[in-house]
Amino acid sequence: MTAAKGGGTLPEGSDTLPAPVEVLGLRLKSPVVVGSGLLTDQERNIRRLLDGGAGAVVTKTIHPSPGPPGNERLLRLPTGMLNSTTYSRRSVDDWCAMLRRFADDELPVITSVHADSPAELADLAERVTEAGSSALELGISCLNEDEGGLTDTPERVAAYTEAVRRRTSVPFSVKLAIGERVRERIDAATASGADALTLSDTISGLAVDADTGEVRLGGAFGYSGPGIKPLVLAEIYGLRRDGLTVPVMASGGVKDATDVAEYLSVGAQAVQVYTVLHRNMHTTLRDIRQGFDDWLAARGGTVADLVGRSIKGS
Ligand SMILES: Cc1cc2nc3c(=O)[nH]c(=O)nc-3n(C[C@H](O)[C@H](O)[C@H](O)COP(=O)(O)O)c2cc1C
Repeated sequence: MTAAKGGGTLPEGSDTLPAPVEVLGLRLKSPVVVGSGLLTDQERNIRRLLDGGAGAVVTKTIHPSPGPPGNERLLRLPTGMLNSTTYSRRSVDDWCAMLRRFADDELPVITSVHADSPAELADLAERVTEAGSSALELGISCLNEDEGGLTDTPERVAAYTEAVRRRTSVPFSVKLAIGERVRERIDAATASGADALTLSDTISGLAVDADTGEVRLGGAFGYSGPGIKPLVLAEIYGLRRDGLTVPVMASGGVKDATDVAEYLSVGAQAVQVYTVLHRNMHTTLRDIRQGFDDWLAARGGTVADLVGRSIKGS
C-alpha cells in the first residue's frame, strides 16, 4: 500500500486526485475512507457514501454468530461518543449476496470480519472472498464484545491473523486498539501476515452522571471521536519514528480535512472517518473529502508528498 506518485498542481476544487492512493490492492480516488460502523451496515448507505466521494468504505463487522441483539446504545459526549454496539445482525448469506453486487460493480469496499475463534474467522474470510471481496479488515479488537472489556494480547492477535493468512491470499488489514501492549500486538499482526494495520479501534471510556453517580450505559464501552485523535496520532507518529514500515490506515477522531492531512503527515497511507458521520452523514463526508482535495490543491502537492513528512522533518 503506497500513495502513488504523480500529478502536480491540482485544479481548483478538483473532484478526483491525480495521484490515486493504493490501499490493500484497491486504487482509491481519495485517501478518505469511511470506517466500519452502524452507518456501513446497509447497501444503500455504502453506495451513497462511495458516490459522495469516499475512497473506500469498510463494512460493518460481519460475524457468523453475532449473538442476540443486546442493549446497543450510543451516548454523545462533548469530545466524541461512547457506544456499546458489537457486530452486524445481518446473516453471512445476506452479506455475501451484497458483497457479490459490490464486486460486480467494482466498488472499493473493504469487508470487515470477525468470529469467535481463529478457525471460524478463517472460514468467514474464505466465504467473503469467494463472494468477491478483494480486501478485508479483521475487526478483532472490539472491546464491547466482552463484559468488562476485551483483553487483547499479542498471542490472540497472532492466532487470528495467522489463521486468516493461511486461508486467503487477498490483502487484509488487522484493526487494533491503541493501549496496553499495542506495539507487541502490532508486531504480532505483521509477523503473522497482515498486509496493513488499522489504528485505532475505539478505546475504553466511561461516563458518569454527576448528580446520581450512575455509570451511564452501565459500564465502560468504546470511546471514539475527536477526543481520541491526539492519542492515535501519537501512536502512529511513534511507530513511524521507530521505523515501522507496514501500511497504516488511521482511524480516530477525524472531523475535517486538516485532520486527514495530519494523519497522512505522521505516516498513515489512508484515513478512516466514522463518528463524525453520525451527524449529516453524506454532507459531512462530502465536506471532508472535498475539503481535503481543496486543501491539497491550494498547496499544489500530492497525497504522496504528505505521507510521513512529519517524520522526515523530525
Ligand atoms: C457506533 C459505532 C459502531 C462501530 N462499529 C464498528 C464495527 O462494527 N467494527 C469496527 O471495526 N469498528 C467499529 N467502530 C469503530 C470505528 O470504525 C472507528 O474505528 C472508531 O470509532 C474510531 O474512529 P472515529 O473516531 O472516526 O469514529 C464503531 C464505532 C462506533 C462509534
